[in-house]
Amino acid sequence: MTSHPPRIAIYPGSFDPLTSGHVDIIERGAKIFDSIIVAILANVEKTPLFTENERIAIIRDVFKGHENVQVETFSGLLVDYAQLKNASVLVRGLRAVSDFEYEFQMALMNRHLAPGIETVFMMPDEKYTYISSRLIKEVFTLGGEITGLVPPVVEEKLRAKQKAKKGSR
Ligand code: PNS
Repeated sequence: MTSHPPRIAIYPGSFDPLTSGHVDIIERGAKIFDSIIVAILANVEKTPLFTENERIAIIRDVFKGHENVQVETFSGLLVDYAQLKNASVLVRGLRAVSDFEYEFQMALMNRHLAPGIETVFMMPDEKYTYISSRLIKEVFTLGGEITGLVPPVVEEKLRAKQKAKKGSR
């Protein structure tokens, strides 16, 4: 048997909020890598729906008991952060052909910057292929049904935010 150093993967994104599609990819990644770090990009959007701390808390809650899933925030170049964490793999989800162009560009730019780091694309269960954080926010805000499209804790927190907003009016 050959032994190799622990294979650490980074799953980067905004996760505003975490969706069932993200959960599916993290679960798949946790099965094939020794550990997977869910890395939340800090400070991209000026007005995110969930703060960084809220997003960390949600993802930690969903993956409590999963020893090899960690949650952190990062800023700056993704490949610099990956190198800091001794990660050799970047995981990205591919939902549809429409994701491909942007993901291909990012994967090749990241390879140009750090040739030793591989991007691995994973497909979520097909029932999640139409979900995105942006659509979840839009549909929820307009009163649409999102049960099952996000983990229950995310739905709870969205309702709490909505209630707080109504209360402050
Ligand atoms: O899933 P998202 O929200 O589209 O994630 C985009 C993310 C965080 C993967 C990307 O914006 C990123 O890596 N940002 C960090 C800055 C960086 O390294 N940019 C060059 C990427 S080629």
